[in-house]
Amino acid sequence: MTVVDDIRARLDIVDVVSGYVALQKAGRNFKAPCPFHAENTPSFIVDPNRQSWRCYGACATGGDVFSFVMRHQNVEFPEALRILAQRAGVELSPNSKQENDHRSKLHRVNQLAATWYQEQLRAPEGAAAMEYLKRRGVNAQMIDAFQLGYSPNRWDGLKNYLNGIGVPEQFAVESGLIYRNDESGRTWDFFRDRLMFPIHDRQGKVSGFGGRQLSEPPPDAPGYNPKYINTSSTPIFDKRSTLYGIHRAKDAIRESNTGIVVEGYMDVIAAHQHGYHNVVASMGTALTENQVAQLKSLATNFVLALDPDNAGQEATLRSLESSWQVIGVQSASRSRSHSVMQQREAITLSIAALPEGKDPDELIRHNPAEWERLTTEAPPLMSYLIPAIAARFDTGTGQGKSQVVEAIYPLIAATQNPFDQQRYTQDLADTLGITLDALKAGLPRTMQASARQQRRQYDAQSAQPARSSSQQQITASALDSNRENTREDYMLGLLLNFPQLREYLDEFSSEYLSSSANREIFAQWQLCADITELQDALDDTLLAHMQSLLAADIAPTDGSRSERAREALRQCLRSLKRRHLLELQQTLLATIDNATPPPRELTAQITSLNEGIRATEIR
Ligand code: UTP
Ligand code: MN
Repeated sequence: MTVVDDIRARLDIVDVVSGYVALQKAGRNFKAPCPFHAENTPSFIVDPNRQSWRCYGACATGGDVFSFVMRHQNVEFPEALRILAQRAGVELSPNSKQENDHRSKLHRVNQLAATWYQEQLRAPEGAAAMEYLKRRGVNAQMIDAFQLGYSPNRWDGLKNYLNGIGVPEQFAVESGLIYRNDESGRTWDFFRDRLMFPIHDRQGKVSGFGGRQLSEPPPDAPGYNPKYINTSSTPIFDKRSTLYGIHRAKDAIRESNTGIVVEGYMDVIAAHQHGYHNVVASMGTALTENQVAQLKSLATNFVLALDPDNAGQEATLRSLESSWQVIGVQSASRSRSHSVMQQREAITLSIAALPEGKDPDELIRHNPAEWERLTTEAPPLMSYLIPAIAARFDTGTGQGKSQVVEAIYPLIAATQNPFDQQRYTQDLADTLGITLDALKAGLPRTMQASARQQRRQYDAQSAQPARSSSQQQITASALDSNRENTREDYMLGLLLNFPQLREYLDEFSSEYLSSSANREIFAQWQLCADITELQDALDDTLLAHMQSLLAADIAPTDGSRSERAREALRQCLRSLKRRHLLELQQTLLATIDNATPPPRELTAQITSLNEGIRATEIR
């Protein structure tokens, strides 16, 4: 549950609204003259059961506590959130507005530095760096596109510049550009005599830098001058959640539904220069879960280009296992919920093992055809992992064989396609030099072990006192509403992932959604042109939820992907609308006070709702 929905769950809408409007009881509900338009007979109804409000009169609109406060106090969502969080006693992570301002100041300092480094590259001092780039075959267009620069060989070049234009030193230090010695308080440029690679976030804002030495370090002191240094961790930069080149690659990745991951800055630049625009770098380390999650929000096919020295390494294998698990686990949990879309699109991860001594940069420049072949014909992860993992154990012994099976079989079991699953099982048996029957005979014990482990984890998570039967009921209905929210999440995911479905936005109302977080995201999406704008428009508390909506995998890979998305959206639209109309009708019925006959207007509304509900029936 998002903080937003948590806050809503802690408040009672009747309490909140009563703070602003004098409510009278009406059946199981409460009513008042609508605070949003002038009227004499009360048509503003608050339904404590649904925790919603609605004007059944001229406004013909409604919502939840958040939208009530927004409308009544004439404030935007973040302010309403603040008001209600305080009321609910929920502490929001440090004033998100203030934090945003701070982050954008750091971005600004980085951008100023990037521009200055660019200028230095073109100044006489940068001649050697420029020469180096030419020698490596980087053309002028790429130098501009990636905002490459040069940090002069001085202790106070950038420092003096930033100082001169009035940037408080504190910001320069905090952004990692200026280093401060805590004891002496002395400060100096962090990057000196380096080729500068600004690192951009998804929206193209400079969040950090990598700097490459321009001459090899002396062989007797190899650690003294590392080849690359990067901005250390700052409030806007974390190497582990950074993908170099993502701002220029994201559209191509989305359009081709394929992302290629390389290791280095130079590899990305070479790829883009040669027309491979869907390439990003993992910053030299094994892919982290965060990086995988970001990639997943863009496409479903990925190719990792690993250089041969890395390809067998423990760290790489481990990261492949874990990133695969991220993918596997998420797909498995979705398969339960997305009944609307029986066929899901599975993520494919392939491994392109590059020839000895060639990194992508060299390969692309000297043999683009080979690069293209290696990346398009890359074998799927499992075909690569099975022999690679097997090589880590002594498969001559029974124990070694069991260990390999234990390490690999869970991954095979998570494979979606049954034919692939069968094939990998066979591959595993072949690799171990045993028959399929022997492998299967050995399975139950290992699988039992892993099932036991999962159960232990589950028990630990849900360690709770025994529930009474009524509590169990509450749990059951909570599960139901979760299922409903899943449909909402899915529907919103479709809208966000398929901009061509925007036309449906008008047929939709945020009131059809029951999660307040979803309502706000939906409302903002109606106003924004693209995801970047949406990200900027949303309150920080909603960003993670929006990311998870975006990351939902949806339609199958065939050409009719967007057609299926459209059909799925229509179905969601119909069922969510139907749920909404049924709820409105329930509210109206619950308003009827048995003592007094219902006004004619009310019965007319119920009748017209009936028509709407009938129109949403499946024919
Ligand atoms: P590489 O050594 O493959 O560098 O490291 P590269 O990008 O191919 O650069 P060239 O071709 O030698 O100029 C791959 C990535 O690992 C990170 C950098 O992100 C680099 O691009 N790295 C490498 C570091 O952070 N520090 C280092 O000392 C080395
Ligand atoms: Mn290289």
